[in-house]
Amino acid sequence: MQIIENTSLKKYNTFGIDVSSALFTSFSTIDQLKEIIDFCNNKNLNKLIIGGGSNILFTKNYDGIVIKNQVLGIDVIKQDEDNIYVKAGAGTGWHQLVTYCIENNYAGIENLSLIPGSVGAAPLQNIGAYGVELKDVFEELEAFNIDTQQIEKFSLNQCDFGYRESVFKTVLKNQFIIISVTLKLNKTPEFNVKYGAIEQELERMNCDELSIKNISTAVINIRTSKLPNPLEIGNAGSFFKNPVVTEHLKNELNNSYANIPIYAANNNLYKIPAGWLIEQCGWKGFRNADAGCHNKQALVLVNYGNATGKEIFDLSTQILESVYQKFGVYLEREVNIL
Ligand code: FAD
Ligand code: EPU
Repeated sequence: MQIIENTSLKKYNTFGIDVSSALFTSFSTIDQLKEIIDFCNNKNLNKLIIGGGSNILFTKNYDGIVIKNQVLGIDVIKQDEDNIYVKAGAGTGWHQLVTYCIENNYAGIENLSLIPGSVGAAPLQNIGAYGVELKDVFEELEAFNIDTQQIEKFSLNQCDFGYRESVFKTVLKNQFIIISVTLKLNKTPEFNVKYGAIEQELERMNCDELSIKNISTAVINIRTSKLPNPLEIGNAGSFFKNPVVTEHLKNELNNSYANIPIYAANNNLYKIPAGWLIEQCGWKGFRNADAGCHNKQALVLVNYGNATGKEIFDLSTQILESVYQKFGVYLEREVNIL
């Protein structure tokens, strides 16, 4: 176990916020993790598990120990006539796993191409994009119970996945460290192009034949055309969730704003793109010092270089308040604030 004191976290979070952690370490085996947890218990330390740091906003220095998950590996663990079961270590890059599956023609996660971060964080918020969510291909995961130091398995039902939600963000928050995730992928692809922009992009690419590789390329093209690359401009993807509203509020909004985009969700509820609400409030392209609202996607807050986490957070509060004032819709932050 190697513990480093007073480490800059700038390169460990995609917002590029320059804070430090009192202690920093990493693990690649369960034995190493147990040793770290014993050390934390002895010293009564706060602990933060990180993968790629692509869904975190640090607003201050971290006074405990940051623990980077580096459990690697991708293995096919079983297969049957229709499916391939692929198990990946939690520290594996998500897009690395997607690339591996596409190369081997295992279908199901091509729409989730180019999402930054680690496999282990993917279940936390049930990552989703372009009509697919992790839950659609999820088989099971293994997680380390911090209290008992035992590995427990979680099935699809036990994870209680929802829109950017799981049991690990709610009732089991901070109690488990995800070690591996197993996906159930298809040998015969079921192409999902229902998210309109994919079909348009496939047409633009002059694709005569649908394939998981082509869908992945289309998704990558769409994403790179509007989402800032964290290596160039600090960000954590969508800063807020898309709000879900009642039929009553939907009707009121429709009456006041004829062109408002609204989509039916489950249980007579409706989803509104937060990016549209934020743009209507005039924030798109806004910049104050190095904190800003991206000029191609208003849902993405950005750090142009030396913004502090507090400046980004304060901007998010201003945005949230103005959207509430104009539309009566409350935005919830998607990014984990620390
Ligand atoms: P981190 O930021 O390191 O951690 C996030 C949270 O998970 C923290 O609370 C952390 O403590 C916890 N955590 C991390 N690893 C573990 C573990 N092994 N066990 C338990 N807890 C853990 N998300 C989407 O859903 N869809 C998108 O399309 C999307 N696009 C994005 C585009 C960009 C440009 C960026 C920067 C982000 C995007 N995101 C998207 C958000 C982000 O990529 C995902 O949430 C991703 O799963 C975060 O992974 P991470 O390893 O970076 O997590
Ligand atoms: N829009 C605007 N102005 C903007 C941005 C968006 O009007 O500046 C409106 C447009 O009507 C557009 C609609 O919002 O058609 C939807 O925009 P987009 O397709 O870019 O998707 P999103 O709803 O903004 C969600 C996810 C993304 C995911 C994409 C694609 C959330 C919070 N965000 O964004 O996930 O990649 O759909 O499926 O659900 C993330 O979670 O970090 C993330 C990037």
